[in-house]
Amino acid sequence: MSSHTQDAETRLTVRDIRRRKGAEPLVCLTAYTAPMAEILDPHCDVLLVGDSVGMVLHGLPNTVGVTMEMMILHGQAVMRASRRALVVVDMPFGSYEAGHETAYANAARILKETGAHAVKVESGPTVGETIAYLTRRGIPVMGHVGLRPQAVLAEGAFRAKGKRPGDYACVIAEARAAEAAGAFAIVVEGVAEPLAHQITAEVKVPTIGIGASAGCDGQILVTEDMLGLFDWAPRFVRRYAELRSEISAAVAHYARDIRARDFPAAAETYFAEADGCGTGG
Ligand code: KIV
Repeated sequence: MSSHTQDAETRLTVRDIRRRKGAEPLVCLTAYTAPMAEILDPHCDVLLVGDSVGMVLHGLPNTVGVTMEMMILHGQAVMRASRRALVVVDMPFGSYEAGHETAYANAARILKETGAHAVKVESGPTVGETIAYLTRRGIPVMGHVGLRPQAVLAEGAFRAKGKRPGDYACVIAEARAAEAAGAFAIVVEGVAEPLAHQITAEVKVPTIGIGASAGCDGQILVTEDMLGLFDWAPRFVRRYAELRSEISAAVAHYARDIRARDFPAAAETYFAEADGCGTGG
């Protein structure tokens, strides 16, 4: 069986994700590398190759410096190691805002070069038309409303939205525009609970919350945040592991063993064979 046939038989599709509106909550996480994708895939409905990769893996201060090449390399790694989850790749800042045709060329390049199933765009006030241009030409698009990390330079900080009811209208308008333009699901980031409920009630596609309460149709977190890889994480993150301290303790142990000449021991050593020149492993 070719890997394409197998993929078609086992993968969740955008239609499967869309049908989960109001049903079993969607389980979503970010993934950027093959080993992590392999671990997450059996448990997740959606793996998002988020542009948060710039901050999480590359040490950038925000997502503005993330490039198409970074998204494509990480998207390829995640596709190689996953079988079941729908894989969505973020379109990086500057790859879709200037015009519909550039957005189409970049989205098509991401899908062709990674094999991923959909792209995500941060749906600011002007992006609805771009989403429509892409979806009408066969590119599945996930929207992203509320706190939009790519707007950090314009907004001056990562700020939660909708804490005052007067702020609801523009976020709801962005979500409606993304839905009307054909987005199959919408990430809702950093919004107060009543606004998350209202958006979820008003759009017919699933909402996927991050820092947006239990009022959404699914949830997503940055995997490294929920695994406790960083000292700091936003308050909406629940830490399911403390990998930072576990890794630090493991590396301290390794360093102690080397300094005490306790590593490598006999079991970790190749010995010469009795005669001849051994070539085996
Ligand atoms: O880039 C990312 O990881 C995201 C999620 C936080 C939704 O957009």
